[in-house]
This record gives sequence, C-alpha cells and structure tokens, in this order.
Amino acid sequence: MRPIVDSPIPTFVFDDREELARTLADEVEALVTRSQGAVLGLATGSTPIDAYREFARRRRVNGLSFARATTFNLDEFVGLGAEHAQSFRRWTRENLFEHVDFDPARTHFPDADAHDRAAASREYEDAIRAAGGIDLQILGIGRNGHVGFNEPGSDRDSRTRAVELHPWTREDAAKSFGSMEFVPLRAITMGVATILDARRLRVIALGAKKAEIVRQTLRASQSRALPSTWLRGHADVRLYLDLDAASSL
Ligand code: F6R
Repeated sequence: MRPIVDSPIPTFVFDDREELARTLADEVEALVTRSQGAVLGLATGSTPIDAYREFARRRRVNGLSFARATTFNLDEFVGLGAEHAQSFRRWTRENLFEHVDFDPARTHFPDADAHDRAAASREYEDAIRAAGGIDLQILGIGRNGHVGFNEPGSDRDSRTRAVELHPWTREDAAKSFGSMEFVPLRAITMGVATILDARRLRVIALGAKKAEIVRQTLRASQSRALPSTWLRGHADVRLYLDLDAASSL
C-alpha cells in the first residue's frame, strides 16, 4: 500500500485488493468490538464486496461479532419491494447479513416503498441521529461522481430524499436488471450532508472504469456537478484505490 502525496483526500493505493479489504475490515473490527458497539453506514454494489467477504471470514474463523453494531444502508430503489432480486435490502442480506451476526432489529434501510417518501426520509434522518450518528460510512463512487444516489446536481447540504436516477446510473444497473427498461427511475438516498455527518468516511474505488472519476474527485473544483468532490474537506475521509482506479493520478 502506498499513499499518494499532496492529495486533497488522504489516498492510498493497494497492489492487492485483498489487502484493501483487510485494511477496512481492521478498522471496522476495532469499532464493532468496542463496548458501546458501532454505527456503520453500508454501501452495496461491486465495490464493498471483498470487504464484506472479509467481515464474513473473520466471523467464521475468529468469531468476530457484529451483534452490538447498528447499520444504516445508503440507499434503496423505489418500487421494487424488499424481496426483489435487485433490491439493496436483498443484496445486503445475501452478501453480508446472512454471513455475520448483525441483530436484524439494528439494521436499517430507507423505506423506498413508503407512501409518503418525504416523511420516510425525515424518519431515516431521525433514526440515524437517535443512534448517535454514523461512526464509519463505507462508500463507492459512481462513474458520474455520485455517492449514495446523490446524482450530479446534488447540493452539499442535501439530506435523505427521493431522487431521480441519472442515465449512467441506470445504464450501469441495467446489467443486473437484464435490461434498462426494468431499472427503477427513482431511489431514496442519504443526502450529501447526511454522509458528511459520519465521523469517518472510507471511500473505495476499484477498476479502470473508475480511474477518470477518481481523478476528477481529487482534481476538479468542488461543485454539484460532481457530488464526490464534496467529500474533500471532511475531517476523517480516506480514499482506498486499487492500481487500475489510481491509473489516471
Ligand atoms: C450503492 C451506492 C452507489 C455505489 C456506486 C458504485 O449503495 O450507493 O453509490 O457505491 O454506484 O457502484 P459499484 O460499486 O457497483 O461500482
């Protein structure tokens, strides 16, 4: 692992993706084994999967317990229902919750199926606050600079809300949905300000298709056009990259 010097976000490049996953897992392990437990913010998608496998391995091999931890997922598609194969609830259950010992009563998702999504969004913010705030938020970055589903145009002070998905986001999702026509048009996401309130942000980007957005996240001026640029200036943010994602730096 080597640090990138003079980066506006402390940035670390890993030759080995497993080492990246272990680095994040070490930090999560230290948090969840504290007597008071920890509040984790969870991302879905291809980026965090190695880290979630490492959490599961530590549960299996070392008995690491997540039972005292609380989780808040970043986002959820509108209109799918919890059991839909592409819902983030199902994804998180299958890729993480079934392999570790989180207490289901302490796992949270934005209620994308709520009749009143504005009220559901406010309740999500309240629930995060009531849990004492997020200790560590795991994040990926979309090719268009989205974090969570804060698409281009998202304000620095945005909060949990329903959003329209950007064409690139729907295009990237089309593979798992089989076709673009099945990809939802909307989602509920934590806002940029909700994410920035987390005490630690750990942002991961993997693969050559993220190289350009990683470069822009670090080099472009901060603006709503590229929500990932809002991560700069957070008091405890780190960017973890593999060699391909770092190839344009
Ligand atoms: C997922 C999320 C998104 C993804 C981003 C990258 O919960 O909020 O912001 O982190 O779209 O997706 P992958 O990891 O699939 O490249």
